[in-house]
Amino acid sequence: MANDFVIIAIDGGAGSGKSTTARMISQRLNYMHVDTGSHYRLLTHWFLKGKISPEELLNEETLTKLQLDSVLTGTSCRMRINKEDVIDSELRTEQINEMVSIYSALSSVRKHLFNYQRSLVKFGQSNKFQGIIMEGRDIGSVILPDADLKLFLFASEEIRNQRREAQGLIDSIKKRDRLDSERKNSPLIATSNSIHIDTGSISIEEVYLLIIEHIKKL
Ligand code: DC
Repeated sequence: MANDFVIIAIDGGAGSGKSTTARMISQRLNYMHVDTGSHYRLLTHWFLKGKISPEELLNEETLTKLQLDSVLTGTSCRMRINKEDVIDSELRTEQINEMVSIYSALSSVRKHLFNYQRSLVKFGQSNKFQGIIMEGRDIGSVILPDADLKLFLFASEEIRNQRREAQGLIDSIKKRDRLDSERKNSPLIATSNSIHIDTGSISIEEVYLLIIEHIKKL
């Protein structure tokens, strides 16, 4: 572990409890929280607004116009495109849920985010956090393969649907998971050294305590 700065990768499907867990850990341990799903959602929002089709993005030039930077709100690190702030609820619409897996399967899009996402470790260190907890689909496998701790969260489809309903969101969980798991570029995957946690069978506090036990062992 470099400089006592803890690097945690947390992956899992839609509604698996990644965000709730990552937020709780980040706030209690002063780790910077990065939700990479929101990066793909923000890019999707931008493409839809600019009427940029997935085909146009096969040309990487289109993406070079997008400058990415970060802003902090407490322990949460948010990405901006060309310094424009978009509120989170605008990124969780039915339309974005429908399209985000299509855009995020493109190698040009993933390539554009790769360096930015990796650079966030340094950003977290320079902002004096104790660690970083980054959530997504390919964090343990591609973005932070040397993470100190890799977690893979899962829950039954029924429970995940119930969670979305409780949030008042319409989300095609099953379809997104299929697209995210079957794509060629950086699919949703658990690495061989990931710790698997079924978030449907225990409470969020128990998930937290389980993870704390693993952090203590680092
Ligand atoms: O975590 P989320 O449900 O908000 O993510 C939205 C979409 O973004 C997800 O369906 C696939 C994509 N995604 C990805 O491809 N890779 C990541 N590391 C995170 C999200």
